[in-house]
Amino acid sequence: MSRTIAVLGGTGAEGFGLALRWAQAGETVIIGSRDAKRAQEAADKIKQRAGAIAKISGMENAAACAAAELLVLTVPFEGHAALLKQLKPVFRSGSIVVDATVPLAASVGGRVSRTLGVWQGSAAQETAELVPDGVSVVAAFQNVGSEILNAEGPIDCDVIVCSDDIEAGKTVRALAAKIPGVRAIDGGKLENARILEQITALLIGLSIRHKGHSGIRITGLPPAAYTGG
Ligand SMILES: NC(=O)c1ccc[n+]([C@@H]2O[C@H](COP(=O)([O-])OP(=O)(O)OC[C@H]3O[C@@H](n4cnc5c(N)ncnc54)[C@H](OP(=O)(O)O)[C@@H]3O)[C@@H](O)[C@H]2O)c1
Repeated sequence: MSRTIAVLGGTGAEGFGLALRWAQAGETVIIGSRDAKRAQEAADKIKQRAGAIAKISGMENAAACAAAELLVLTVPFEGHAALLKQLKPVFRSGSIVVDATVPLAASVGGRVSRTLGVWQGSAAQETAELVPDGVSVVAAFQNVGSEILNAEGPIDCDVIVCSDDIEAGKTVRALAAKIPGVRAIDGGKLENARILEQITALLIGLSIRHKGHSGIRITGLPPAAYTGG
């Protein structure tokens, strides 16, 4: 399937790692940034790492959003709502927004191992409130750390994908499964994003306590649950 993925905030650690993995998998990727030059520099770095296969470019966030049908949000929570409001006029109808944002208390000077209460229930549900009609929201990738994504080789993590749009969820599970080592699991409705976001705070705390890069694996489900079904 031919499509373009725009990673908004892709100059940061998390978005860069996701963009790198998808570029390595042969996907067409645009890095989005508040600054087109910064986006292009990140795209060039990915090209160096991914090699000739990489179909990657860099643009200012709104231009990247207008040029893609799959959008991945990887900005800090403090910039989340403002960015979505800025993008509202340029979303393509029928596009999918994949939200990896975690509302960490660090956004307002608190701890990285705590989350903020979000009125809508989660950052992803806030996104659903801010996108235009006809744009689907999917929560995913909150529990995959940037250090793991930016390292070499397969990653030892599952990705739980939550959405109220069944088809959009399926698309994003297929995209997640392109990252070697990832098993993408249907996590049900978008309201479950609040749990995914909380798990990240726990994982950050575990990584600090034990000096590692923690992730999650789900056990005990039938094989079909792990193969994007
Ligand atoms: N890091 C991780 O391991 C990890 C894991 C799971 C989920 N996440 C989530 O993914 C998101 C990104 O994490 P990160 O560590 O990559 O963050 P980051 O490096 O702090 O930020 C990512 C990018 O967002 C842009 N940005 C920064 N402040 C902004 C603002 N106020 N408004 C709009 N854009 C802004 C910056 O790009 P430009 O300056 O180029 O615009 C920056 O490079 C966060 O919501 C985080 O909770 C992170």
